[in-house]
Amino acid sequence: MLFHSVSLKKNICARIKDATHLFFYTFLKRKSYLRCVKVCLVFGLRFKGRDIISIKDFTHEEIDYILNIAAAMEPVAKSGSTMLQGKILATLFYEPSTRTRLSFESAMHRLGGTAIGFAEAEIASVRKGENLADTMRVVENYADVIALRHPLEGAARLAAEFAEVPIINAGSGAEEHPTQALLDLYTMKKELGHIDGLNIALVGDLRFGRTVHSLAYALSLYDVKLYFVSPELLRMRREVLDTIGERIKFEETTSLDEALPKLDVLYVTRIQKERFPDAAEYAKVKGSYKIDASALRNAKKDMIVLHPLPRMDEISADVDSTSHARYFQQVWNGTVTRMALLALILGATD
Ligand code: MLT
Ligand code: MLT
Repeated sequence: MLFHSVSLKKNICARIKDATHLFFYTFLKRKSYLRCVKVCLVFGLRFKGRDIISIKDFTHEEIDYILNIAAAMEPVAKSGSTMLQGKILATLFYEPSTRTRLSFESAMHRLGGTAIGFAEAEIASVRKGENLADTMRVVENYADVIALRHPLEGAARLAAEFAEVPIINAGSGAEEHPTQALLDLYTMKKELGHIDGLNIALVGDLRFGRTVHSLAYALSLYDVKLYFVSPELLRMRREVLDTIGERIKFEETTSLDEALPKLDVLYVTRIQKERFPDAAEYAKVKGSYKIDASALRNAKKDMIVLHPLPRMDEISADVDSTSHARYFQQVWNGTVTRMALLALILGATD
């Protein structure tokens, strides 16, 4: 029962491989058949052994495929599986994390694999001065896939150059957090049924928040309208705007009031205190947005509020009991999305 769509595709692929020569000779001109071969090969095999460094490395079709596999993982997450038995995930976290690390480890365990790693670089050999390249060359001997969180932008890309096993970027400084973007998209699709046509506001720290960078890139592959709501000092990075501006419409604003009634998704983020070069700058923007239940009075009835967590004071506790809150459901969705990614990268079949 597990992993229906993938095992089905794999079976089809296996059969196609056996029959390919015959078909190639006899039905070479049958476009639909060739398209079928292409779809199976492209999607069944495209992910195996692949690094996940930036969401920009993924096409719209690939993202949709991952979201479909994540949906197929919902019952698997509850029942457990031996799909990745014998496989080992290393989680190397050079920055604090609760959700992402536990979510990857939980995903691996639910698929029958195991997880090793460190959450405190301070107590690992890193403290003795081991560089990232050497750490990768060591850890690849212990694990089949590595999830890496690092304070430096570009760290995941660098690690992938040295490690033989696939690297998953679990957060690279203020740059990107691609697996969070995938789970955010998965949540939107699960809750609202589709992504195309949505009006989505990203609110808070759009400069230092890595989740909103990855999410904006990913959403720009869909037909959406984005509202970037932030203090002047924390506007969305120019490089993100340049990239997505060619594909979708967006507006930048400092106030949420005007956009709120139009929104289908309100994605709120924490001001990333630890990434400010200067405490005085942080003091200027601290507490810029505080969303409480009364602020949501003008929202559409089915608008959802998301947050990558941890939250500070940007969403008050009285929002939790409204029909809009979905940030705790996002956590579960992170588990199934990461199960999908691990299964795809490690080539699980049934
Ligand atoms: C999707 O993945 O949801 C489809 O591309 C359709 C949509 O976005 O509404
Ligand atoms: C992240 O790791 O980027 C988050 O979970 C969001 C945050 O830290 O505010």
